[in-house]
Amino acid sequence: MKNVTLLQMEHPRPKLFDFHGVSMTNHYTDNWDNVQNFKARPDDIVIATYPKAGTTWVSYILDLLYFGQMSPERQTSIPIHERVPFLEINNPSLSTGIDLAEKLPTSPRLIKTHLPVQLVPKSFWEQNCRIVYVARNAKDNAVSYFHFGRMDMLQPEPGDWSSFLQRFMEGKMVFGPWYDHVTGWWEKKQTHSKLLYLFYEDLIEDTGREIDRLCSFLGLSPSAEEKETVIRRVQFDNMKKNKMTNYSTVQVMDLKVSPFMRKGKVGDWKNHFTVAQSEQFDEDYKKKMKNPMQQFRTEV
Ligand code: PPS
Repeated sequence: MKNVTLLQMEHPRPKLFDFHGVSMTNHYTDNWDNVQNFKARPDDIVIATYPKAGTTWVSYILDLLYFGQMSPERQTSIPIHERVPFLEINNPSLSTGIDLAEKLPTSPRLIKTHLPVQLVPKSFWEQNCRIVYVARNAKDNAVSYFHFGRMDMLQPEPGDWSSFLQRFMEGKMVFGPWYDHVTGWWEKKQTHSKLLYLFYEDLIEDTGREIDRLCSFLGLSPSAEEKETVIRRVQFDNMKKNKMTNYSTVQVMDLKVSPFMRKGKVGDWKNHFTVAQSEQFDEDYKKKMKNPMQQFRTEV
């Protein structure tokens, strides 16, 4: 019989439902009026991603670039999900993302969202905010999302890998299909000049180079020493050890089932996909991802 933990009993898994054409769960829709009416400020910086694409990594990079020189206590006492609130979250055991964002004492405010582009509150566009989008190749993204589903009680039951992968291809995931998400944001880049589109694989290949791209987009010029400090602090092993970035303070995640900072690699999909699954996935991918300009790397 399956071993049900106390955490699982206390947090029954939510169900997916259709919300404005996108699969969602109540944790991201219950506060919807407040999300849609959120008042952005012109200097707000949004970090937008499909779940598991490198949100926490880029959030921490930006947090350090802007506020790394502030009091050392900030670094040891405020977890990343409070420094960079998750706009649409409404988890009864935490403050809502909106509350956290409205109470942020820092300027600029760094705000995380997983919303597909068409659901982003209009105020961010009206205020012409800067947005950093991070995308990750579909295969590794699916693997990471699967393991996250196993440990995060706010996710629907992931089931086994093979059924999860089928649902990933069908887009029956919280925040909808990966394919629409990465493409919708890619297309937005053509008209919204203040959108920087980054890739997880590029960050893995050369974190310093991508930090330079971020700095030039944001108009920041850290000293060489500051930049080296950021690069060191955001290395996978350091973030994994750091209680403020490894999500060990979050009650709804069972890190014994799978750590939040799990592998941090490009190509872990090879340890999960069978040859048949990979072929079926690639076939389906070709039908959905038609823009030759939008290329993802599944290895670096
Ligand atoms: S979430 O829940 O959507 O905010 O998750 P997100 O932060 O987007 O993605 C988690 C995955 O990113 C990996 N990660 C990193 N990889 C390399 N270097 C660093 N510093 C880093 N920080 C986070 C994390 O390990 C998850 O990927 P997987 O493949 O599961 O390890």
